[in-house]
Amino acid sequence: MSILEFIKKSPKAELHLHIEGSLEPEQMFKLAKRNNIQIPFKNIVDVKKAYNFNNLESFLKIYYESAKILINEQDFFDLTWAYALKCKEENIVHTEIFFDPQAHTDRGIDFDFVINGIYKALQKAKKDFGLSSKIIMCFLRHLDESSGFKILEKALKHKDKICGVGLDSSELGHPPSKFKKLFKKAIKNNFITVAHAGEEGPPEYIWEALNLLNVKRIDHGVQCLKDEKLVEELSKNQIPLTVCPLSNIKLRVFDKLKDHNLKKMLDKKLMTMVNSDDPAYFGGYLNKNLIETQTALNLSQEEIKTLLINSFKSSFLDEKKKEEWISKI
Ligand code: ADE
Ligand code: ZN
Repeated sequence: MSILEFIKKSPKAELHLHIEGSLEPEQMFKLAKRNNIQIPFKNIVDVKKAYNFNNLESFLKIYYESAKILINEQDFFDLTWAYALKCKEENIVHTEIFFDPQAHTDRGIDFDFVINGIYKALQKAKKDFGLSSKIIMCFLRHLDESSGFKILEKALKHKDKICGVGLDSSELGHPPSKFKKLFKKAIKNNFITVAHAGEEGPPEYIWEALNLLNVKRIDHGVQCLKDEKLVEELSKNQIPLTVCPLSNIKLRVFDKLKDHNLKKMLDKKLMTMVNSDDPAYFGGYLNKNLIETQTALNLSQEEIKTLLINSFKSSFLDEKKKEEWISKI
């Protein structure tokens, strides 16, 4: 079997996917029309032209703007269902998705519409084609901690649907330490914690996420190689780093895929795997991320296998399920 076939046919887990980042332009136009909302694009070509980012900040501006077409529970259902169908197409059998409630509640959208729409679509995907999933609620780090406390309060009512909390949005200038108390409260309420750290930000942010937010995974974490002690710590404890190669190129963290440090991370025995982040904006879903990265870095079939195994190992599935899937790779 060629590596390409191996990638496509293997069962896969995805651990870093923002559901709002799976909003395809076609669906954006459809929902804008349904909800009678003006969007700053005339057509699909116009949209694609706008998806030319300089950094994380320039992407987030468009990402939050586009999310404004999501109004009703049905919109969140449709968005999530479209992603679930992609999972089926790509042999993704388990997915752990992020959602950004503050991006919606701050516009007057009911928290319950957001979570219920996402949850119901994932339930249907479980029933129709066996996709398993977890939902992780992200706090927007450009907002203050008190806003995070308010959203955590709302999430408590939905503890049966939300397994963990994360931290995303503009990284620079918003260190994990800003949310120390909030994460402490989330942990007290039995939420697992993860955080975006070391995407654009320095290794110190990864240290803070580990030591102050007690995270089980670091999202991105590609800046860790700048700090030898940190690499040692991450490797010793096998802390998962959810790397997103196409995202890193689109947001100019690396110039070209050939310059990406994923192979170096594997060589240092870091617990890393490939994810798609915001696939509708960054040019591809999980298989494309794996295929293009394999080609650019000349990864061997063994290295691809390690990445796929790591995705299950690093998931929040129970140990028995992890073993079952790993044995099928
Ligand atoms: N929100 C959506 N995608 C993100 C990313 N790559 N980094 C930080 N926040 C995000
Ligand atoms: Zn992300």
